[in-house]
Amino acid sequence: MKNNIKEHIGLKQSMKNIDSYTHVRGESIYVDDVNVREGTFYAVVFDSPKAHGKINSVDYSKAEQLEGVQRILTYKDIPGENQIGGIIPDEPLFAESKVHFWGQPIALIVAESEFIARQARRLIEIDIEELPVLTTAKEAKTKASFINEPRSFNLGDTEKAFCDCDHVFEGETFTNGQEQLYIETQGSYAEPLENGNIKITSSTQGPTQVQKATANVLGVSMHKIEVDVTRLGGGFGGKEDQATPWAVMAALATYHLNQSVKLILSRHDDLRMTGKRHPYESTFKIGLTKDLKILAYEAEFLQNSGAAADLSPAIAERTLFHATNSYFVKNVKTTVLSCKTNLPPNTAFRGFGGPQGMFVIESAIAKAANELGISAQKIQEVNLLKENDEFSYGQIAVQVEAGNSWNSAKSNYDFDNLKKEVKEFNSINSAFKKGIALMPITFGISFTNTPMNHARALVHIYLDGSVGISTAAVEMGQGVNTKLLQIAAQVFSIDPKKVKIETTNTTRVANTSPSAASSTADLNGKALLKACNALLERIKKVASNELKVDSGTIEIIDENVYVNNSKTDLSWAQLIGITMLKRVALSENAHYATPEIHYDKTKEKGHPFAYHVYGTAIIITTIDCTRGTYIFDTIKIVHDFGKSMSKGIDLGQAEGALAQGIGWMTMEEIAYGKDGRLLSNALSTYKVPDIFSIAKTIDVLPLHTEGNNMAILKSKAVGEPPLMYGIGAYFAIQNAIRDFNPNYELKFHAPMTPEKVLMSLYEK
Ligand code: MTE
Ligand code: HPA
Ligand code: MOS
Repeated sequence: MKNNIKEHIGLKQSMKNIDSYTHVRGESIYVDDVNVREGTFYAVVFDSPKAHGKINSVDYSKAEQLEGVQRILTYKDIPGENQIGGIIPDEPLFAESKVHFWGQPIALIVAESEFIARQARRLIEIDIEELPVLTTAKEAKTKASFINEPRSFNLGDTEKAFCDCDHVFEGETFTNGQEQLYIETQGSYAEPLENGNIKITSSTQGPTQVQKATANVLGVSMHKIEVDVTRLGGGFGGKEDQATPWAVMAALATYHLNQSVKLILSRHDDLRMTGKRHPYESTFKIGLTKDLKILAYEAEFLQNSGAAADLSPAIAERTLFHATNSYFVKNVKTTVLSCKTNLPPNTAFRGFGGPQGMFVIESAIAKAANELGISAQKIQEVNLLKENDEFSYGQIAVQVEAGNSWNSAKSNYDFDNLKKEVKEFNSINSAFKKGIALMPITFGISFTNTPMNHARALVHIYLDGSVGISTAAVEMGQGVNTKLLQIAAQVFSIDPKKVKIETTNTTRVANTSPSAASSTADLNGKALLKACNALLERIKKVASNELKVDSGTIEIIDENVYVNNSKTDLSWAQLIGITMLKRVALSENAHYATPEIHYDKTKEKGHPFAYHVYGTAIIITTIDCTRGTYIFDTIKIVHDFGKSMSKGIDLGQAEGALAQGIGWMTMEEIAYGKDGRLLSNALSTYKVPDIFSIAKTIDVLPLHTEGNNMAILKSKAVGEPPLMYGIGAYFAIQNAIRDFNPNYELKFHAPMTPEKVLMSLYEK
């Protein structure tokens, strides 16, 4: 029975997401569902109708006179600093004399109802003297418009290595932005407490960031501001930094009016005012030996950062970390420039700049393969990372699963036969063509900014043996609360029903990193594990005194105390009662900081990641050569989950991320006019993947591995990595086009929309 707790109620690998019951019944609580206090006001943001210009005048008088309007707040009403920039202080909460993007907040209209606030917004008159607008990274580069200094990673000597190459190819790529499209739009609800304290309920991935920015804008200390999060209706990175302004604005209104204020963006406002995944324009140079080893790789990434830094520098960094994807390249030189444009500040989106880097090397490989008249798989395969290979940032790759996942995908799914079927199909069909591609992924787990890799957990065991848990983890659909609950239930060996995951609240767990970087379960879960283990040891000691046995002989199994593997009459609940009578603490607060990681930015070398996640996808598409449309016949993945602690949740993450990756690569097309206005400003003009867009069949096989000790219970982080399988969709389509049109010249310009497919099929 010992060491076999898996058999008991504590660990349920197949446990359902604990939110599924309330989700299905429509009972889950989001910001808009919070009970509002009597007299609550509603706010709407007045934003810039131009992408760049000098504000000559704004006339609020008509809006202010509208019945029901309480107050219109501008930068002049900010008691503290008009500044919300997280990494670089370059972003005002409200525009002052200039506007830098279409949709930039200028004022907050507070009224008795949202309807009145909206009406008032239409009555505001603004006069803007327009200035030249930059919408692309390339234009910004020529104007030397940057967010910060460029960054470069270097390994070996590319210049020298290119001379030793048998083949050298160059090219350019573009990947478009991507709208996070969380179902719950940005929103917050601020309430006045006593003594000028304010409580904010926010749909944020980063409660501490909201608390800090609010305190700064209001000119008060952080302890005056409490931030609470129940869950998000999706974040996908879009609420890591960009949930902040709306929370600060609601709090500012509460500060002035001493009344509760609700601010929820409409979908239109949200689409227009918030940043998205960064578009990238990049160039590459790849050099290969005659046996197809990539000897040298250079890339320059132009990141379209938008009008303020937001998270751009951190995202740029991750682009460099993932620039060689799953391959070992001995000589690497990569540079990223964060280009300042007149778009809303672009921000985090699942993958955080990694996918943008990986697309470029996959493009370089596709180009090389095409020029050499071979399949890309030949080049991919011989360059896969191996044990002890060095990444360009100095980390040595260990427990590498690149080759393993690749071979496992090829053999489990009989890749050679799939390839043969595609070839046969194409040889007898001219109106339809199939394409096949393999996509290996390698993704580093940890915040690339080392100091952010920490978390805390606060655990209370109540008198009756039930348990309450607070951490910094924000539930956004990824299932982290279920994983946390599993950890506590497993350590204590109690019924999961006796465990409650509390809301995420800055007064219970402070100074937290956002829930991001796929690390939420690792960081918060490890802190929780520590807290639970400390409590268990303490409780066992009480039991050993009570039963007069050595505490090493005691175990708790299924809510009963065991001594030397035999059941005693003492139950978990009774033991907790005794612990309380003995005046032993039943609460614990634990801190976890990822060990081993470090990074030196002056050298651009170190060991930034706790571990890497690996996997390989096979993607097969059929394109309709009359219409340019396509379907994905099948997507077959071998993914490195480690020892998954929650198979249903992890599979859901893999499939959801894949869908978003395919959407980004094939259909989601953000469009801005030359004047900087968002054209794809509704779901009628912005196509996101649905159930039919993904694939007729998706298979996900877990790679059988040992897992990794740095991962929670050896269950590897899963939130972001599978998104990058979607990159393979681009190349599968391209391969099909090539089969139809021998004149087609490879282009690396995503998304590969049906329009582009059609043009490519018939280009001369
Ligand atoms: N899954 C759902 N359902 N909703 C989300 O908002 N965000 C993704 C991913 N999966 C997201 C999601 C992103 S961007 C990240 S970084 C991780 O979940 C964050 O959660 P984790 O750290 O617990 O994996
Ligand atoms: N990933 C996601 N969010 C982040 C990171 C990261 O690496 N660094 C800072 N914020
Ligand atoms: Mo995820 S892009 O790190 O929120």
